[in-house]
Amino acid sequence: MVLRNAFTVAFAAAALVGSTAAQATGSREKLCPAETPCCGLYGDCGIGAFCLGGCDITMSHSFKACVPNPVCKSGTYKLDSLDDVQDIGKYLGDNSKINWQAQGTPKVYNDGLLLTMSEDSSGTLLASTFYVWYGKICAKMTTSQGRGVVTAFIMMSDVKDEIDFEFIGTDINHVQSNFYSQGVTDYTQTKNLTVSPETVSKPHEYCLDWKPEELTWSVDGSDMRTVKKSDTWNATANHFAYPQTPSRIMLSLWPAGKAGNAEGTVNWAGGAIDWHSPYMTSAGYYAAKVDQVTVECYDPPSGVKKTGNKSYKYTDKAATNDTVEISNDFVILGSLEDTGENPGDASKTKTSTSTSTNSAPQVPGGIIGGGGRQEPTAAPQSTGSSGSSGSSSSDAFDQGTSGKSAGVAVEPSLHKIGGSAIAIVVTVLGLLVL
Ligand SMILES: *[C@@H]1O[C@H](CO)[C@@H](O)[C@H](O)[C@H]1NC(C)=O
Ligand SMILES: *[C@@H]1O[C@H](CO)[C@@H](O)[C@H](O)[C@H]1NC(C)=O
Ligand SMILES: *[C@@H]1O[C@H](CO)[C@@H](O)[C@H](O)[C@H]1NC(C)=O
Ligand SMILES: *[C@@H]1O[C@H](CO)[C@@H](O)[C@H](O)[C@H]1NC(C)=O
Repeated sequence: MVLRNAFTVAFAAAALVGSTAAQATGSREKLCPAETPCCGLYGDCGIGAFCLGGCDITMSHSFKACVPNPVCKSGTYKLDSLDDVQDIGKYLGDNSKINWQAQGTPKVYNDGLLLTMSEDSSGTLLASTFYVWYGKICAKMTTSQGRGVVTAFIMMSDVKDEIDFEFIGTDINHVQSNFYSQGVTDYTQTKNLTVSPETVSKPHEYCLDWKPEELTWSVDGSDMRTVKKSDTWNATANHFAYPQTPSRIMLSLWPAGKAGNAEGTVNWAGGAIDWHSPYMTSAGYYAAKVDQVTVECYDPPSGVKKTGNKSYKYTDKAATNDTVEISNDFVILGSLEDTGENPGDASKTKTSTSTSTNSAPQVPGGIIGGGGRQEPTAAPQSTGSSGSSGSSSSDAFDQGTSGKSAGVAVEPSLHKIGGSAIAIVVTVLGLLVL
């Protein structure tokens, strides 16, 4: 949730794809309108990519607006090239061809992918095109560091169940673990886990063992924290506040401490970003590096309604474990002008969207603040397109070397604690309710 909210802000400065006209937002009380039926990850309504990953059926115009979630794919994903990565502005839903969607600028470096964040960019987000509905998900990665710089490895469902590893750039000896249910911001569940010696200079393996009844965070093979579903009952909501819906894998580097972000977010992230810090690479950006992701899909729980094996599909807005069906429904959009309600003809997929006649927003993140929030934001700026700038050998990159010892990283005097959660809660509730 912290993450989602901050992404909202982060990607607010990203390219406006489509119209600059006022954009509708969706909520459970007020669904997205027919013209822009899909409620995307950040709460705003649109077409195209809005209807693919992150489309929230509880806030969209209809269940059909959101394309069903492709099922889990076990595998070892070696992220050593951009061959399996496609920019969010190009992906139309055919996950047999591509496993990762990118927003921002991932770059190939030393058998891994750098998630880069240059000055005034919104960072980089990689999301799996398939969903996991229970499984063991591991990422071998290093983090970035410095005030306001946050690296993350999370699971996020379309109805905002969430499981987090979040790395605050001022505390490279810990990772924050957290989980959320349906977007309810209960920060009391945050727990710091120790990473030895630190998260920056050498990769560690972070794993989430997500079972229907139990969730375990581990680092380098050591279990660090376990949460039992049975301990999460929320009587008000009348369900377990436990992540229980199909979720995408997300890896990201984002500027939580960017000027203009909510004060609570900035404080939580250790302060305002220094765009000239020694932690930036010689090529002039912050970077985290993901070497590999492994996924072991677990069998669906017994008792699940199964009418196929291609997608997860919600059958009810309660969006709990027993309202997900495994079906054969599968939708590939004809173009980014299409939606789940009107998917177009994928066999006649246009190679370019330059002929676009529909001015509705087609890629989430194209609206300031994700709807209804009052924060000052940076001027719109264009996102890097995935891979297009990643090949130059002048992008020399050194990480964790040249005298940057781990301990030096933390700047305690600027590291504020306390109070931050409230500010974030207020911001997020504003987003969800409006
Ligand atoms: C986790 O560590 C950070 C320092 O990095 C501290 O500000 C925060 O209060 C800690 N959180 C918990 C829940 O202990
Ligand atoms: C329980 O669920 C209700 C309704 O979704 C929510 O408002 C409340 O914050 C939740 N309580 C906790 C402790 O998460
Ligand atoms: C959903 O969760 C409930 C409560 O934990 C459990 O009893 C039930 O078996 C689950 N249903 C499915 C289909 O997993
Ligand atoms: C999905 O189901 C079809 C038909 O029942 C079957 O032929 C196919 O092997 C199944 N695919 C997987 C991945 O289980």
